[in-house]
Amino acid sequence: MPKNYLLIPGPTPVPQDVLLEMAREMINHRGAEFSNLLKSSTELLKKIFKTNNDVLILTASGTGGMEAAVVNFFSQGEEVLVGICGVFGERFAKICKAYGLNVKTIETEPGKGIEPETLEKVLKENPNIKGVFLTHNETSTGVTNNLRELAYIVKEKPERLLIVDAVSSLGAIDLPTDELKIDVVVTASQKALETPPGLAMISVSELAWNYNEKANLPRFYFDLKQAKKFLNEGATPFTPAVSILFALRKALENILNRGLENNFKRHMVLGKAVREAIKALGVTRLLADERWASDTVTPVVPPENVNPDELRKYIRNKFGVVLAGGQGGLKGKIFRIGHVGYVEPTDILVAISSIEIALENLGCKGLRGKGVQVAEEIFQEYYKD
Ligand SMILES: Cc1ncc(COP(=O)(O)O)c(C=O)c1O
Repeated sequence: MPKNYLLIPGPTPVPQDVLLEMAREMINHRGAEFSNLLKSSTELLKKIFKTNNDVLILTASGTGGMEAAVVNFFSQGEEVLVGICGVFGERFAKICKAYGLNVKTIETEPGKGIEPETLEKVLKENPNIKGVFLTHNETSTGVTNNLRELAYIVKEKPERLLIVDAVSSLGAIDLPTDELKIDVVVTASQKALETPPGLAMISVSELAWNYNEKANLPRFYFDLKQAKKFLNEGATPFTPAVSILFALRKALENILNRGLENNFKRHMVLGKAVREAIKALGVTRLLADERWASDTVTPVVPPENVNPDELRKYIRNKFGVVLAGGQGGLKGKIFRIGHVGYVEPTDILVAISSIEIALENLGCKGLRGKGVQVAEEIFQEYYKD
């Protein structure tokens, strides 16, 4: 087996010191050591969420956090708006519909984000909308919405609830929760937070707690009021994923020691290098519009005569570089390079080089070094400081 380079947009590579935390012996989840683990991890998370709101850790994948963001704040038949830029926006709409909400949507073409004017118009035309669901970084299309602009529009009516899916961005792309007045932010352990899958985290504003008092949607496992009550006692309502929490605390310490702003900068550089390299190859094309291009994942349209899944298989088998396929309507049409979490410039050089060699061997000639050179130039500049 070749050496493994996991370059998918989650789960992402986990550093060894984080992995080793999971080898700790088990502890009592109703004891003082766990209470300290939960409370300290929650405080570290607040720094990454940039919030003074409550942050709750749930034993679930990101989708569990999304479901919690629906069932805790709304009542049957209430009107909500969901921004859909791909598979994960669609998922929010599906969850809302499954629980009987009256769902309005704004849908964008693949690769485009939400236009502020469209949001403004839809909100004006539908004054009864109680909550707006937005995806910060749509992983399936590589689109990062401009939340600064969009949040401002949603909050022109301060009592309107703003819920954001930041599963593939929080920690890698700046998301100042309190500054932008975002009521609920959902993320998960397995992407920018450099931890294995298994935990979802959700921040809840005072306004969102007010909504929670009136919300009548059915809930049990994801009852956030219960989670908060238990957190105050340093515990969780149900048996938590203790080992992943050990890992999470270490990973959060690492990120904060490195500096959150430095982490954002590294992701910006990785994103730029990948995009410029793909453009430099000439035969490959970026799916996402430059205006919304994500710094954590880059979807690539391959040359016409190359099947993206065959290309990925070749690269996986020959070089151990694992890339992601397309999702939803983009299945079989694109491949995606993940550059989120514990990923370094050198990993990107390996990925770009592998793509060049693979495309050459699949019949696209004259590519050798074209993308790598451009990426190196960007990284050389980054390392000057
Ligand atoms: C933007 C976004 N939202 C939600 C999810 C769902 O998270 P999970 O797969 O952990 O349930 C993902 C997962 O890739 C995601 O990228």
